[in-house]
Amino acid sequence: MLSSKVSQKLNEQIGLEFYTANLYLQMSAWCSLKGFEGCAEFLRQHSEEERGHMQRLFDYVSKTGSLPILPAIKAPPSEWDSPISIFKSIFEHECTVTKEINALVKIAFEEGDYSTFHFLQWYVGEQHEEENLFRIILDKFQILSTETKGLFFVDQELKRIAQSRDR
Ligand code: FEO
Repeated sequence: MLSSKVSQKLNEQIGLEFYTANLYLQMSAWCSLKGFEGCAEFLRQHSEEERGHMQRLFDYVSKTGSLPILPAIKAPPSEWDSPISIFKSIFEHECTVTKEINALVKIAFEEGDYSTFHFLQWYVGEQHEEENLFRIILDKFQILSTETKGLFFVDQELKRIAQSRDR
């Protein structure tokens, strides 16, 4: 059974992962509307991954004999200036998610909940991967996207990444 402190924080993380899934899906819709099909496909796929992160937490809480409580999920923004501004805010958002995961790990440890502490190690690794992935994408945008042709190449590259992950 989870302590109330750990359970509350896990439920908050469920909410954050849910929000992240909605945010990336909304960003995908914006990219699609503006003709950036590669970005749209990549973000739709990433939204599904985030939903998986939420589900994994949800199932874990359930399996401990506690009741997962879904919090209210605020609406994500729906307007951006450019694909670069989208990927800048994703990188910042992922850094926030990392901070929250680290806070959760700290609480689990302090509460002596080593099972949750162990479970969360997957998220620690995942956040490292995600920060790295979005940093690389952002770098590509910053190097190439000062001209329209560059934007096209980054969009194609994201399509390639999304398709290679589908396999
Ligand atoms: Fe599940 Fe990208 O944080």
